[in-house]
Amino acid sequence: MFSDRRNSYGPNIEIESQWFPFKEQVNAFMGPDVQWHAHPIVGGQNLTSDTIREVTSPYDRSQKVGEVQWGNKDIVDNAIEMAHGAYPRWSQTPADERAACLERFADLMEQHYAELVAICHREAGKTIQDSIDEVREAVDFCNYYALQARKNFGAPKTFTNYLGQEQQARMVGRGVFACISPWNFPLAIFAGQVVAALAAGNAVVCKAAEQTSIIAFRAVQLMHEAGIPGDVLHFLPGNGSTIGSPMTQHPLIAGLAFTGSTGTAQLINRTLASRGVGPVPVIAETGGQNAMIIDSTSLPEQVVRDAVRSAFASAGQRCSALRVMFVQEDIADRVIPMIAGAMKEQTVGLPYLHETDVGPVIDTKAQKVLLDHIEEMKSAGRLIAQTKLPEWADKGTFVAPIAFEISGIDQLKDEKFGPIMHVIRYKAKDLDKIIDTINQSGFGLTMGVHSRNESTCAHIARRARVGNLYINRDQVGAVVGVQPFGGQGLSGTGPKAGGPHYLPRFAKEQLL
Ligand code: NAD
Ligand code: ALA
Repeated sequence: MFSDRRNSYGPNIEIESQWFPFKEQVNAFMGPDVQWHAHPIVGGQNLTSDTIREVTSPYDRSQKVGEVQWGNKDIVDNAIEMAHGAYPRWSQTPADERAACLERFADLMEQHYAELVAICHREAGKTIQDSIDEVREAVDFCNYYALQARKNFGAPKTFTNYLGQEQQARMVGRGVFACISPWNFPLAIFAGQVVAALAAGNAVVCKAAEQTSIIAFRAVQLMHEAGIPGDVLHFLPGNGSTIGSPMTQHPLIAGLAFTGSTGTAQLINRTLASRGVGPVPVIAETGGQNAMIIDSTSLPEQVVRDAVRSAFASAGQRCSALRVMFVQEDIADRVIPMIAGAMKEQTVGLPYLHETDVGPVIDTKAQKVLLDHIEEMKSAGRLIAQTKLPEWADKGTFVAPIAFEISGIDQLKDEKFGPIMHVIRYKAKDLDKIIDTINQSGFGLTMGVHSRNESTCAHIARRARVGNLYINRDQVGAVVGVQPFGGQGLSGTGPKAGGPHYLPRFAKEQLL
């Protein structure tokens, strides 16, 4: 049955897999007649505006998912002023009560699981498995940060000197935190930033990426239902110029959590600095030029599985995704043809079908950047393999996974956010040189290492300047509380999301 649907295309969108236990519930939100309408939410009220954007699905541009009313500068200013008024009350609310709101929000996401999976899938074009993972990660962030809030923001800490003098301090929120998030983890990263800022005692104004405002709108509705007061949390849909700029220019913003491209983070930093008020903390999680190093002792079958997943899962639209694979020349002629073989076996297709490995990219703009890079690489590199595109692919924004062999990482100037892998051969004697060239790219997000030589793994781990290093496994899918996630250099400021040092960055110490 699956192979019949594989290359056909039709409007009857529903999950078929017999292995998916919630398929009936999710299918109730899958038909084209189910649509959502998102608004700015300020002071707990849905606002209307003149700017209305239609949302269609990345895998079928004729399928309407809903509409989003964008905010504007006046709405941004009102929201920030209202949040500023609510901040003192919220920061004095016991950490335990704030944490309980996060846990109730996590429970509500569980209750609305099927709807959230369906929105992620339809609005962002994620596969069903990626959409399930998305909701799970959002739930994990809430429960983890609730735990951390109780631990770090509960009782004040006492400091005593040898004369017996005492001083007490406690962690409190900073004021109004702005949270700005990307489309590639439209629920998990959006919710993760917002609940962290709230748990630490800040009032929040938040903006999701313009491509994925519907899922964020539903999340904010659920956060309010969970007990976050309407004047404490405000949702401001729109793009960078209509919403992002006025948010970051506002003098009352006391801190900012941003996840997105390195270029936007740099722009935001400049905007915040030019406001003529004191410096504020910026937590930026940005892009990567992530490498995997494969030496001659590695197991080719395992390399192929992990490299293909790291480069092409989620259509390569993970900040952690593999972009440049360095393979030691002694093993390259075994590994590269095996990767080519595995790529030919992948299925690019409709993300609600069980057999689909790679769904669409987010929009036509992203698709064009990727296709332009592929054209460039066709003359600058050697084509290794390309996965087949289905005949109907132009209904959505699909890019076929592709791999090129190139001569050096200097051929790659910036992050290409999609299913494109570059392969470079290296000589054993040049291992340090390649680690240094990776470091010199300035990015430092993830790295994968495949080697059965423990001292090689340890050496690479010491020398590489990256946030997350994965040994003999894939390099995507960090788990909240287990693999705190975040990079350095052009890849971000830290602290790592889903780790114990994250919440304190949203707070300041107050003497009692
Ligand atoms: P983007 O930089 O284009 O947009 C991110 C957010 O910033 C969006 O909400 C956007 O509307 C907003 N924005 C744009 N211009 C702005 C401005 N002038 N002022 C304020 N806000 C503005 O990034 P994207 O395309 O949405 O996301 C993909 C990028 O995110 C990739 O580079 C990826 O590597 C990165 N990312 C990083 C991590 C991480 O943890 N390091 C995680 C996910 C995604
Ligand atoms: N946390 C995401 C991952 O590890 C970005 O893939």
